[in-house]
Amino acid sequence: MGMGLVAAAPKERQVESAPAFGPVTPGEWGAGAPSHRSETGEWAIDLRNVDKMYRGKVHALRGIEMRVKKGEVFGLLGPNGAGKSTLVKILMTVIAPTRAEGTMLGQPVGHKPTLARVGYLPEHHKFPEYLTGAQVVEFYAALAGVDRATRKKRTPELLELVGMKDWGNKKVGGYSKGMRQRVGIAQALGTNPDLVVLDEPTDGVDPVGRREIREMLTRIKEEGRTVFLNSHLLSELEMVCDRVAILVQGKVKSQGTIEELTVKRQVYEIEVAALGADGVEGLVAALEGKQAARMLAGRVEAAPLGSAAGVNIAKRVGIRGQLASGEEVEVDHGTVRIATVDAERIQPTLDALRGAAYVIKSVKANRPSLEDLFMEAVTDPETGKALGPGAKKEGGAK
Ligand SMILES: Nc1ncnc2c1ncn2[C@@H]1O[C@H](COP(=O)(O)OP(=O)(O)O)[C@@H](O)[C@H]1O
Ligand SMILES: [Mg+2]
Repeated sequence: MGMGLVAAAPKERQVESAPAFGPVTPGEWGAGAPSHRSETGEWAIDLRNVDKMYRGKVHALRGIEMRVKKGEVFGLLGPNGAGKSTLVKILMTVIAPTRAEGTMLGQPVGHKPTLARVGYLPEHHKFPEYLTGAQVVEFYAALAGVDRATRKKRTPELLELVGMKDWGNKKVGGYSKGMRQRVGIAQALGTNPDLVVLDEPTDGVDPVGRREIREMLTRIKEEGRTVFLNSHLLSELEMVCDRVAILVQGKVKSQGTIEELTVKRQVYEIEVAALGADGVEGLVAALEGKQAARMLAGRVEAAPLGSAAGVNIAKRVGIRGQLASGEEVEVDHGTVRIATVDAERIQPTLDALRGAAYVIKSVKANRPSLEDLFMEAVTDPETGKALGPGAKKEGGAK
């Protein structure tokens, strides 16, 4: 004990990391406020103020706010040590939170009976090597109380779903990492769960296997289940997730659909074929002459408009200003960048450029990729360097 957070949650019993295998009453883990509960119709997972201080004072989670919609594939993205597995283990009651508010499937976090409706693939799982894949699926379903007849019927279906039909009667000891992950996913579905929680499902799986796992996730979702997965692999999430959250050093930096996260940062890039004798100044004059924009007198040294701010890429010298309609604009060599998603807003600029006899070579709508957003999230805006992995130690030198 002796954690500063005790003061923040006076009514909660503080349980440290010992796995709580006994029955836990909802109150012990802190239920959400009533207003909060009324939203559970839409949310499979609805968390706030989730905090975890490990013994040894690693502050792994620092006030998580996160919502997973029913029926979606949701990806929790973050570098190693960000706290992804810690959050999952709290949801699965493998470890106790220092503090947690909110619900999973409409019940307070920590409510043990709810776990019967949740399938779980832990990270670094190890199935007994002497069991066959089919036995693994059956064994875990039996542990979860699934009756024998249902197990017998469901096991081959699940093995088929994960592409392990031909391997189901072979021993896990002879499986590749990818095959173990597949059996793990089948195992997570053994109880016919409403919510499937997968901690790094594609960890150690080759690209072909990863693609197949993505297809499985889509099928699992089509069966009406909610999928919550952790990954440090960006491309996985971009391709399969309806919504994502980016977790960095125990905090959710941003969450939403990939569209929502990237659209705010869209930039139109207008490229002219050639600059005249007066170079960039000519472009600026063209914009200002037709009152399409008002440019700042000086040049600014900054990463190009629309790129992930603070990311340590070569900074360029551009001339910044504002369009008459208010959008930020930047002129940089033969390119004019305008921070908008609205094509109409760039038309006066195109007119101004064409009016000054510039030949327009291309007009592109550029959005940052999920990787750009991720890099931005893990970059310290002050130093421009990547934030170190893992949680900061409390109390020590920062
Ligand atoms: N049992 C533990 N005791 C102390 N610190 C831990 C423990 N488990 C994880 N941590 C620390 O908590 C932070 C988050 O870890 P984890 O949740 O495993 O991250 P991720 O799954 O995102 O890689 C890391 O700094 C890790 O070292
Ligand atoms: Mg992890």
